[in-house]
Amino acid sequence: MIILAIETSCDETSASVVKNGKVVLSNIIVSQIDIHAEFGGVVPEIASRHHVVSVTKVIEKAIEEAKITIDQIDLVAVTKEPGLIGALLVGINAAKAFAFINSIPIIGVNHIKGHIYANLIEGEMKFPLVTLVVSGGHTELILMEKHNDFKLIGFTLDDAVGEAYDKIARVLGLSYPGGPVVDKLAAIGNDSYDLPRAYLKDSYNFSFSGLKSAVINLIHNCKQRGEEIRINDLCTSFQNSVTDVLVKKTLNLAEEYQVKQILVAGGVAANRGLKEKLLKNIKNRELLIPAIEYCTDNAAMIGIAAYYQYQDNKKLSDMSLNGSPRNSLGRD
Ligand code: KG4
Ligand code: ZN
Repeated sequence: MIILAIETSCDETSASVVKNGKVVLSNIIVSQIDIHAEFGGVVPEIASRHHVVSVTKVIEKAIEEAKITIDQIDLVAVTKEPGLIGALLVGINAAKAFAFINSIPIIGVNHIKGHIYANLIEGEMKFPLVTLVVSGGHTELILMEKHNDFKLIGFTLDDAVGEAYDKIARVLGLSYPGGPVVDKLAAIGNDSYDLPRAYLKDSYNFSFSGLKSAVINLIHNCKQRGEEIRINDLCTSFQNSVTDVLVKKTLNLAEEYQVKQILVAGGVAANRGLKEKLLKNIKNRELLIPAIEYCTDNAAMIGIAAYYQYQDNKKLSDMSLNGSPRNSLGRD
């Protein structure tokens, strides 16, 4: 089964051709990071406009690079939620137009489901499993007993992890997006600042706003006292605080539900400190983390998720398919 997938939920315009939910024949990504960097974050209206400019070219390139013809495509998959609504609608309308003119069925896919299924490029899923979803907009613990079955166990009560990374980087004057930069500096610093850890006793939920405020206050106080901020050390302390909580909750859940595998999904899955800490503490469980290019937004993950979604219930979307900023995964 050959799927053409389209992803435009945030600031990456991406199209991919995936065979049988496993083989990525092409994965074209046009990133808008440089455009949004000067604003220190994604500007929704600008993102939509750039998706409009790129989407057709990206689709054509994905088909060309996959060395297939349009009549070989069995299904068009597109991200339907969650995301910036204007950005999502560009991809959805492009997918609908492509599917309509070429008489190909269409299927809408959840973006977070895509991040989870990006792990299938690394290996098979072994159930039950838990996924730690850590992206720019979401921080969740999701339990799966079988394919296409999602139970939301924990979620953030305030900021997402990636959002906290980006904010801290911004206050420290580091470049956007902040996650990769903070991760790099954290590797060469010492954990010499005392920062809080929000374990939220007896809960699988998360909270990162207290940590974010603690770092911002620390920076302001240092500035007021004319003290130099040891940026590398602060990045290490911040990263340790974040990863201690993420790892502890993930492992507790893994133990409680006796899962066979732990998966990590979303942009922050690229974090080296998180991977190291998980590997060190995981004991006899298997860890899957996507390769770096499949951690951040891409259409291949949507193509893979679409394959399993279709195999599970054979349900397709139609021309009434709409986008939504809300994440319904595991909540319905
Ligand atoms: O999944 P993603 O590409 O977009 C959303 O769906 O949100 O995630 C983007 C987020 C950004 O906040 C970025 O700073 C963060 O992932 N990120 C990282 C790393 N690489 C990307 N955060 C921490 N460490 C990294 N190495
Ligand atoms: Zn994402």
